[in-house]
Amino acid sequence: KHRVFSGIQPSGGLTLGNYLGAIKRFVDMQDQGIETLYCVVDMHAITVWQDPEALRRQTRELAAGYLAAGLNPDRSILFNQSQVPEHAQLGWIFNCVARMGWMNRMTQWKDKAGKNAEKASLGLFAYPSLMAADILLYHATHVPVGEDQKQHVELTRDIAAKFNNDYDVAFFPLTEPVIEGAATRVMSLRDGSKKMSKSDPSDMSRINMTDDADTIAKKIRKAKTDPEPLPDTMKGLDDRPEARNLVRIYAALAEMTPDQVLADFGGQQFSAFKPALVDLAVDKLAPISTEMARLMQDPAEIDRILAGGAARARAIATPILERTYDIVGMVRG
Ligand code: TYM
Repeated sequence: KHRVFSGIQPSGGLTLGNYLGAIKRFVDMQDQGIETLYCVVDMHAITVWQDPEALRRQTRELAAGYLAAGLNPDRSILFNQSQVPEHAQLGWIFNCVARMGWMNRMTQWKDKAGKNAEKASLGLFAYPSLMAADILLYHATHVPVGEDQKQHVELTRDIAAKFNNDYDVAFFPLTEPVIEGAATRVMSLRDGSKKMSKSDPSDMSRINMTDDADTIAKKIRKAKTDPEPLPDTMKGLDDRPEARNLVRIYAALAEMTPDQVLADFGGQQFSAFKPALVDLAVDKLAPISTEMARLMQDPAEIDRILAGGAARARAIATPILERTYDIVGMVRG
């Protein structure tokens, strides 16, 4: 039986990378009738400083983004992590299973803590262990994520295997990362070697889910490209990262393969391709940002949806945490 879990940090606005790499695929899985849980991981967000008011707003905005993109709170369980305290409880158990050396090898830790690891929070170091708890608290079998989260899902499997081995049980599943589609790693619009990210200092490097049509058009028009026409197949883009990125974005938005896009646009210049991409992006993204803005007018309704999701999530999590405590040897009355 399949059960899908995934999460996004409310640590800034949503980007096109989050949409194509994660949210759009969350909606597809929900619509395939799979059991789906999608979380706003507020406890992960505070591993780096978050202004409390901004965190509250971004939590609701991310929930609004989920809903606006097509997640249905009756079909998927939508909630924020801190309302299900079992995440932190299982996270502690996993802190005692995972090894320091495993955490030290995480590329995201190395990137985020950089040379100043002494000044990073302890939570940032333990981050992947809490992420393993998010997933395994529900015995999730599949986790849709972008390419950059692959190492964390693999670590989740290592934690599950070590727990099962240490306690001689077959309790936690070995969860599969699901990294599929044309846009599992959307790159910066200014530099094809860098991931599109909410933390990039240049707003021109990314499309935000809250950008209006004019802003989307301007960013695509100014996106870095090269002077060559588009080739007929993706092989011809091996050394052209910026061009490859725009073709992949088009493919993901249009629900085509990149080669199908090039079957239509091969031989054409960017002066023809970019306006088509602008039309497609505005067509797909503008309704989502409009709906997000509408939902944000009623934050109490968003809070109600998150609380309802949290209650349903806890109903799944509680027996799994209780069983974990029993396996570990915790006495409970
Ligand atoms: P986060 O919040 O950085 O990103 C959320 C999701 O968006 C994907 N993503 C991208 N995909 C393609 N191209 C990009 N440029 C791009 N940027 C971001 C990410 O891969 C991710 O799927 N650790 C996670 C959050 C998390 C989680 C979990 C995920 C916490 N617990 C349990 C899955 C399961 C993170 O920081 O994602």
